[in-house]
Amino acid sequence: MKLKSLVCLFFPLLMFVSSANADEGMWLPLLLNKMNYAEMQKMGLKLTPEQLYSINNSSLKDAIVMLDGGSCSAEVVSPEGLLFTNHHCGYDNIQEHSSVEHDYLTDGFWAMSREEELSNPGKTASFLIRIEDVTAKVLDEISNEISEKERTEKIHEIISKIEKEATEETHYNARVSTMFGGNEYYLYVYETFRDVRLVGAPPSSIGDYGGDTDNWMWPRHTGDFTIFRIYCAPDGKPADYSEKNIPYKPKHFLPISLKGVKKDDFAMVWGNPGNTDRYLSSFGVEYALNYFNPAIIKICNKLLEIMKEDMDADKKVRIQYASKYAGIANVWKLYLGQSKSLKKLDVYNSKAILENNFTNWVNADEARKKEYGSVIDDISEYYKISSDKKYNIATLCFRLIYIFGAEILDFANQSNDLISALKSGENINEAVEKYKEIANKYFKDYNLPTEKKKFTELLKIYSEGVPSDLQADIISEIKTKYKGNFEKYIEYLYSKSIFSTPEKLNSFLDKPNLKTIEKDPALKAATSFFNSVANIENLSEKENGKIRRASRLFIKGLREMMPNKKFYPNANSTMRCSYGTIVDYYPADAVYYDWHTYMKGIIEKEDPENEDFIVPEKLKEIYLKKDFGRYGEGDKMPLCFLTNNDITGGSSGSSVINANGELIGIAFDSNWEGVGGDIIFDPDMQRCVNVDIRYVLLIIDKYAGATHLIDEMTLINNKPVVKPDTEEQKEIITQ
Ligand code: ARG
Repeated sequence: MKLKSLVCLFFPLLMFVSSANADEGMWLPLLLNKMNYAEMQKMGLKLTPEQLYSINNSSLKDAIVMLDGGSCSAEVVSPEGLLFTNHHCGYDNIQEHSSVEHDYLTDGFWAMSREEELSNPGKTASFLIRIEDVTAKVLDEISNEISEKERTEKIHEIISKIEKEATEETHYNARVSTMFGGNEYYLYVYETFRDVRLVGAPPSSIGDYGGDTDNWMWPRHTGDFTIFRIYCAPDGKPADYSEKNIPYKPKHFLPISLKGVKKDDFAMVWGNPGNTDRYLSSFGVEYALNYFNPAIIKICNKLLEIMKEDMDADKKVRIQYASKYAGIANVWKLYLGQSKSLKKLDVYNSKAILENNFTNWVNADEARKKEYGSVIDDISEYYKISSDKKYNIATLCFRLIYIFGAEILDFANQSNDLISALKSGENINEAVEKYKEIANKYFKDYNLPTEKKKFTELLKIYSEGVPSDLQADIISEIKTKYKGNFEKYIEYLYSKSIFSTPEKLNSFLDKPNLKTIEKDPALKAATSFFNSVANIENLSEKENGKIRRASRLFIKGLREMMPNKKFYPNANSTMRCSYGTIVDYYPADAVYYDWHTYMKGIIEKEDPENEDFIVPEKLKEIYLKKDFGRYGEGDKMPLCFLTNNDITGGSSGSSVINANGELIGIAFDSNWEGVGGDIIFDPDMQRCVNVDIRYVLLIIDKYAGATHLIDEMTLINNKPVVKPDTEEQKEIITQ
């Protein structure tokens, strides 16, 4: 989800010190053998290190997929490229295929044959080919004498070279990822498939049961899954969508366990967690609480209010804005919860204690004083300046406007290729056709009155919240030319811009000319905002350099200070494994939360007056008839369960795997008490919320009747297949 891009801009990439808790940590698959394997084995793991991660033989990592460059995770569950991920990870695609006539969001979608599977241009599925530690290659050429700016530039140069060399004469893509705040660098090489088709999705009343009310909470009764299939060219290589493409044959796929789960069972989560800031300083925590989180919450609040009103009034708008709304509501609730839990857990104080210990350790030695003496002061000063000057808030407001609010800015900005073509006079038709494709997608989910309201209100928040010297100059223009009347300016912008309606755009594209597009008011506004961000970057360059350096040294120092601790890098959209157990928790004094839920809870929560809790008739029927087949536990149908695995945004859709390497669930959320987990891992409070794989299969089989999909999978069963509701079944269950 978009949440990732917000976070990484403002918090330096830091890392986390692992305590003795096995549950804590998102570990690099490459280092599992060296760092974690013995402990994993002690906890019950039955696989060999080679079965987990190998670059020579097929291993578990070959069944793990990164979706869309890191927004979500997924896993292969059949020899024919079938993928499981979350409903909320496929939501955009389900929504894109939906219309008032075919409302797959409400009704669900099931391809009953391969021909019915729906293509999703732009969607990608990446497999990890290998990881390599390239720290020496990157840092050996970097001298400590150069400025942070030079250092960053030089590192970018070296990284690009490494990425290029790693993929030369292959069809792979590569990324060098910064670990431990810039103390280490790892090369990740991927094979990325571009034909990923939608195969099945339950209705939102199953896949998002509980909606925003239950989101980020436990207990859960959500069947949060979607099914895709990867297709490739007949030679097995990635290809764009084509009828000639064939289902991808994976190197490994996960068998699925029907054996069920129980408390204290070993569980691993494999996926691509997006961003954590586990070692954010106390100053950073204070900054998040006072500035960063309130700004996000305020803007999201406004956007949700505007969208909700229009969505409630019109079914078409409801479908058009469903995915955007869910994304913003998700971020809004996350930051609300994060602030709450940072306060409740007194994270500021625990960070301050660590910094104090660090200072004492530094001061005990002259050489340390020389290297690390200014680290804590530099971090503190950075946040003081950030609070005073509001550089980060200005950039954050722009990003929220750009990503969530004023969609016309990004749409206008995407005409860059067209502008270049018009300038050079070359490939104009091609550029026009390409832009038409972008436009079709854009206008499908576009309601002009909603867009105008969103942009107007965000401009008001921006002009009030961002210091005038950091504002985009378009604001002062509005203040003079439109006497500060934002409504009037927005009326002007949308009435004049070629990007505001399909009609205006099409008539422009019929006869495109440089002059019209270059003076378009939407493009002008976008350019003005981008210029302001570039200006802020210049103004804050010194501070940004200082915090990067201080953070890097802080991490380096901490690793020296605690040589016996196992450290792992912050999440950064690279493949990780976290391991732990299935476990319950006590969210508050005298309150106990069990580790699993059953279908019974769906009925308990049912509320026909509340759209988050409407239960589909067919699901009720399955429940009432106890038609659970081989997926249930007698007359009970398991639904979700908790583990203490360490996850974050981007982990959504991750496989939850048992000691034998079999799929037992799909991770889909964190719990409310643990929602501060991006900054601190509290072993007593942080839980990973998973949908039991048996419920997923029940929905595919009994609800959708898509048994052909079940037939593709390898189910591991320790009980015989029996007809539901028979004496025989009861007997087996009670054995
Ligand atoms: N909290 C979930 C995550 O970030 C997303 C849940 C989406 N559902 C919703 N009702 N907004 O992975």
